[in-house]
Amino acid sequence: MKNIAVFGSGTMGNGIAHVFALNGFQVQLFDKEETILARAIQTISSNLDRQIKKNIITVEQKESTLQNIKTETLISSISKSTDLVIEAIVENKLAKISLYNELLPLLNPNFILATNTSSISITELAPKSHSDKFIGMHFMNPVPMMELVEIIKGHLTSEETLSTIVSLSVALKKKPVAVNDYPGFIANRILMPMINEAIFALYENVATAQDIDQVMKLGMNHPMGPLALADYIGLDVCLSIMEVLYSGFSDSKYRPCPLLKKMVASGNLGKKSGIGFYTYNT
Ligand code: NAI
Repeated sequence: MKNIAVFGSGTMGNGIAHVFALNGFQVQLFDKEETILARAIQTISSNLDRQIKKNIITVEQKESTLQNIKTETLISSISKSTDLVIEAIVENKLAKISLYNELLPLLNPNFILATNTSSISITELAPKSHSDKFIGMHFMNPVPMMELVEIIKGHLTSEETLSTIVSLSVALKKKPVAVNDYPGFIANRILMPMINEAIFALYENVATAQDIDQVMKLGMNHPMGPLALADYIGLDVCLSIMEVLYSGFSDSKYRPCPLLKKMVASGNLGKKSGIGFYTYNT
C-alpha cells in the first residue's frame, strides 16, 4: 500500500489524510470545492503545528506530511495506481453509493474501498462487484490523536481485505478492533444513545447543558460532557447515526430526541457551524 485517495476533507477526511501522509503514504485528498480543500489543508497545517509544540513530530515531518498530500476536486484525477480509497463524505447512504458507482470504473479491480461511515451497514453499502474488497475503517475524532480504528467486516468482506486493513492500521500506529456489521457497530451503538439521552435531559429541562456535561465529567470521569462531544462530532452526524440505529433495530429506544432534530433543521450543527449546545468562534 502506497497510494491512498481520501474522499471528503471535512472533520474526518482531513484527519485521515493527515495521519496517512505523516506515515509516508502519498495521499490525494478530494472534495467538492477548492475553498473546502484549502480550509482542510489549513486545518492539517495547524494540527501539525500542535504536534510539533508537543514534541510528537519535527518541523521536517510537518513539511514532508504536507508534501505528501495533493488536493483534487475532479474524481477523474484519481491516480490509476491507487491502492486504497477511504470515503469520508456525508453520512448519507445514497451519496456514498453514488460516489462508489463513479469511482469503480476508474480504478483497477484490486483496490480496497474503505468507508469511514459511523453507522451505515457495510453490507448494504458494498458495491456488488467489489464486496470482497469493501470494508469499514472507522477512525475516531480527532483522527491524529485517537488510537482506535474500528474495523467493520461486511457479510462479503474477504479475510484478506480484513487482514490488510488491520495491518495497515497498525502501520499508522493505531489500535484496530475488528467487529461485525450491526447498526452503529460498537462505538456508536453505545455512545450515541448516551448523547441522545443527554439531549433528552436538556429537552425535558432536567438541567442546563453545562450542568449535564458537568455531571458526566465529574461523576463518570468522561474527559468531555456528552453535549460538548455532540457539538464536536456534528449534530447532523449524531442525528444520522440515531436514525440508522432507530431503523436498523426497529426499536423505539433509539428514537432521536426532537430537540436534536430541530437543531439540525435550523442549521445549528455544533462546532462546525459555530452554534450547537454551546457557541464557538469559527
Ligand atoms: P463533514 O460534513 O465534516 O465533511 C464531509 C465532507 O465531504 C464535506 O467537506 C463535503 O463537502 C464532502 N463531500 C460530500 N460529498 C462529496 C463527494 N461526492 N466527493 C467529495 N467530497 C464530498 O463530515 P465528517 O464529520 O467528516 O463525516 C464524514 C464521515 O465520517 C461520515 O460518514 C461520518 O459519519 C463519519 N464519521 C464522523 C465522525 C465525527 O466525529 N464527525 C467520527 C467518525 C466517523
